[in-house]
Formats: sequence, C-alpha cells, structure tokens
Amino acid sequence: MSSFNLSVDANHQNGNAKNAADSSSLTVEDIDDFDFSKLLEKPRPLNIDRLRSLDERSLTELAGSPQLRNADISAPRVHDHAADYVISPSVGGRRSGFNTPRSLPGFESHPMVGEAWDALRRSMVYFRGQPVGTIAAVDNSEEKLNYDQVFVRDFVPSALAFLMNGEPDIVKNFILKTLRLQSWEKKIDRFQLGEGVMPASFKVFHDPVRNHETLIADFGESAIGRVAPVDSGFWWIILLRAYTKSTGDSSLADMPECQKGIRLILSLCLSEGFDTFPTLLCADGCSMIDRRMGVYGYPIEIQALFFMALRCALLLLKHDGEGKEMVEQIVKRLHALSYHMRSYFWLDSKQLNDIYRYKTEEYSHTAVNKFNVIPDSLPEWVFDFMPPHGGFFIGNVSPARMDFRWFALGNCIAILSSLATPEQSTAIMDLIESRWEELVGEMPLKVCYPAIESHEWRIVTGCDPKNTRWSYHNGGSWPVLLWLLTAACIKTGRPQIARRAIEVAEARLHKDHWPEYYDGKVGRYVGKQSRKNQTWSIAGYLVAKMMLEDPSHVGMVSLEEDKQMKPVMRRSNSWTC
Ligand code: GLC
Repeated sequence: MSSFNLSVDANHQNGNAKNAADSSSLTVEDIDDFDFSKLLEKPRPLNIDRLRSLDERSLTELAGSPQLRNADISAPRVHDHAADYVISPSVGGRRSGFNTPRSLPGFESHPMVGEAWDALRRSMVYFRGQPVGTIAAVDNSEEKLNYDQVFVRDFVPSALAFLMNGEPDIVKNFILKTLRLQSWEKKIDRFQLGEGVMPASFKVFHDPVRNHETLIADFGESAIGRVAPVDSGFWWIILLRAYTKSTGDSSLADMPECQKGIRLILSLCLSEGFDTFPTLLCADGCSMIDRRMGVYGYPIEIQALFFMALRCALLLLKHDGEGKEMVEQIVKRLHALSYHMRSYFWLDSKQLNDIYRYKTEEYSHTAVNKFNVIPDSLPEWVFDFMPPHGGFFIGNVSPARMDFRWFALGNCIAILSSLATPEQSTAIMDLIESRWEELVGEMPLKVCYPAIESHEWRIVTGCDPKNTRWSYHNGGSWPVLLWLLTAACIKTGRPQIARRAIEVAEARLHKDHWPEYYDGKVGRYVGKQSRKNQTWSIAGYLVAKMMLEDPSHVGMVSLEEDKQMKPVMRRSNSWTC
C-alpha cells in the first residue's frame, strides 16, 4: 500500500559495518517408572546462593524455594553472566554481548560478513528517530505483500546479531514497542482476541499531512489465512531473556509492564480447559510455517517454543503475588510437557519398531498404544530416513495421528531449551549428520522433511501453489535456519557440523542476494517466489558466524538441562544407538 511510508533509512546505515563480524533409547516405559510428581512435592532443600545462575537452578528448587514460599518480592533474581555457556576453552570466560570485541584474534572473517552487516543495517526501521526493528525483506523487485513489515519472529536473528555486536538499543526499543502493541484491542470481524496476543508484524505509518508517525500492527486480522501468530509471544519472551542475559541489565525485564506482558502471554496458554495433553492446541499457520501445511493440533514447532518460553519466563518473572502464582503453574506445566514430549514425540529406530508392531483398539489406562495409532498409517519414507544411530522429535502427536515429518526449528529449539535430554540431543545431531544430503544438501536447512506431494499435497495444503513439493514451507531450504542449527551444534559440542553447513551456505548466499528460501530436493534452486535480500537470511548467517567465533554467545539462546527434570534413563537391551 503506497500510503505507508516505512522508515527504512539508508542514511542510518553505518557504511563500515562492524565486521566480526552408546546413548540409550528413551522408552515410554522408562519414563513411566519415574514419578515426576515427587519433584514438585518434595523439593530439595535449597541453599540459596545468590551468585548462582537461575539458569542452573532446577524447577524443583524454584517450586520449593523460599522466594516462592515467602513471596519475597525484594529478592533479586540473578542473571549470572560468568556462568555463560562456554564450549571452547580458547574463548572461555569471556562474556557475550556488551563490550564484546568485534573480532577475535585468529578468527578469519569471511568477506561476506561485511556485506551482510551493510545489508542488515539497510533493513533497519526507525520510528520517531529510534531504531525499532528490521524490515522482513528489502526487495523492490517483487510485490511487497507484507514483506515491508517488521515481523516479530524475523527480528529475532537480527536482534541476536545486534546484541552480539554490543548494540542492544534497537532490541530494547523493539521489546518496548511490541509490548505497547500487545495492549491494543485486537478484533477480527466481531471477535476479540486474547489480551496477551503479540503481533505477527508491525509497520510505521507516516502521515505526510501531520508529519507524524504511528505504528500499525497485524495480529492475524490481515494475515493470509487470518491466523494469530502463536509463536510471536514466545519469541518475545525468549528475546527478553536473551537481552537480559547479554546485557546483564535486568531492569527492562523487571519493569511492571514487561512482567505483565509475560504473564498475559502465558495466561493464554496455561488456562485450564478440556485439554487432556499438556501440549498447546493450535491452528495451522500460526508460526514460521504460516500457511496451511498440516501443522495444526500439537505441532513440534510450537511445543518446543512453548517449552523454551516457559523456561525463560521462570528466569524473568518476579516471584511476587501475581508472578508467584504463575511460576507455580509454569513449573507444573514444564514437568508435564517435558514428560509428554520426551515420551510420545520422540522417535528412534526402537520406538519406530515398537509403533510398527502396535496393537490397536486398546482401552483403559494399561494401553500401550495410548493414542490408537494405526501402524498402517506409518509412511514408507520414515523407515529409510531413520538411521540406526539417531532420532528426532516428530512433527505432531494427537489421537490416531502421528505426523512423522522432521521439522528443523522444533528440533533445534528442543536442543537449545533442553526439552531434549542430552542423549536425545546427541541423537538429533547424529540424524542430521547421517541425513546430510536430505536435510542440508546444497543449502542449509530444510524447514521440514520430506515434502508432501500429489494427492496428499492437495488435501493437506488445500492445493497451495506456493507450497508445491520441495518448495517454500513444503520441504524448502531456509538459510535463516542456519543460526538455529549452529547454536544446536555448539550446544551439543559438535561445532564442526555447523562449520560445514556455513561453508555450504557461503558458496551461494551472497551471490544469490540472500534469498528467503531455496527449492528442490537438495535446495539447489533459488525459490520460486523467494524474496531477495531477506533480512533473516542475512542475520541468520551473521549470528551463525558470530556464535562460531565466540561460542559463549550461545548462552543467550540456550538453557542448560534441569537435572531434576531428567527421567531415569535405562539402556534398552534390545537396541543401542
Ligand atoms: C513468510 C514466512 C514467515 C515470515 C514472513 C516474513 O510469510 O512464512 O515465516 O515471518 O514471510 O519473512
């Protein structure tokens, strides 16, 4: 729409970019043996060490902590930067974020890094003189649609790049502006959305007559398909924690407005109702895959983000009156959610074989095949795809329906949030290595695998011409996912996998003008309707490079395993990986 004048200000670009630039199989039976309720009932006695990172403190400790019991409002929450996740001894001990030197001695910067910083700065959006985000794509050759907006999910890698480069202001402005947008009244036709819903995107409206700027947001009422973005609120919380961790400044998160924002987002998800599962029920198209793709019900993409946001919220919420109640709800939900996900979404060759041999129509609590999955519904490809060493969280589990597709974002976030146990995280990385050609191929990384074709494509996508097989959301390759892959690689101690993937991307990304996505079985072709200069392709590359350069940056988006949440693991006699 021509009346919108987005303040993408090329003058603001800083021309000289700041370059830096035999695990066991977890079976349902194993977990059944473990009584999670004990964790909540009998908290370990807590020796409050205020210098210890909350990141390292278990949910159990939190549930039984004096802070909770005594509603100690004054007790400060500690963000321990010394405890940043560090993988490489060579850079160990250095804090991520603020005041980070731009480049480590000995780290060779690729010429693309400078180009990427220039391009990222060109995408910056200003509101009344302040940088508040980055536009989705700076591409004038295609119809704009909504690519001239600041998307919440798209801004995350940009924000991480700025934080890693010691430029937190744009991130703070973004967090505060989107928080203001959250308080708007949101209506689609005559129906009002929940108070906590965060926008999918916003843009700056410039009124030339009054020479005045205002923000315009989309909560799903303009989006194709009219779906509210469930992921936006989760990303907002995750980003707030990344900001706090990176800058050491907890005053932003401590603001009553931010505390309220977190509570509003999570009360949308924690309310009691008809649910029999702790996973979050949602509509198709409510996350990065924002078109009909069969990603409805309980998709891994949302469940992993939900888990991560809950864990971040535990670190950010004050344990005062309203906060305390929510913390208790969060702790309970996290236990139920991790149990459910680790038991029912996890697939490795043993689990696959068990499902293959499932009996059906079992009634009562003794049922093994709890969701009545019919073995005939197992797709043939999954038997070939599953390597002997490896596993992954499948796309979806609901009554009589298991979506066996592999999704990149959900599996990487599962690793980063420690929803995946260390054994499961290793298995996910093993699978990526074994299925390199399929998942990385000629451009990292497949958004999901495999593509849906023919009749199934017609039924599942509603004949969506943008999502044909191996294109866009249907098995397309998205460079933005490189940052998530890199973070997961570093967290699992396998940076060489990330290095290999980045090398693959460097062969083409800049030359092809930073496309949004690539098409084809191995991601060889620039996507049919792919935007050029897609900001999150640029930022995703920069974040991946900076994390490899200084692995302690991963601490911004990684949470260590909560030991108390770990189920008893037994080695399976019949299968080892
Ligand atoms: C597409 C993507 C979505 C992204 C948006 C802006 O709609 O599916 O994930 O946020 O473009 O880049």
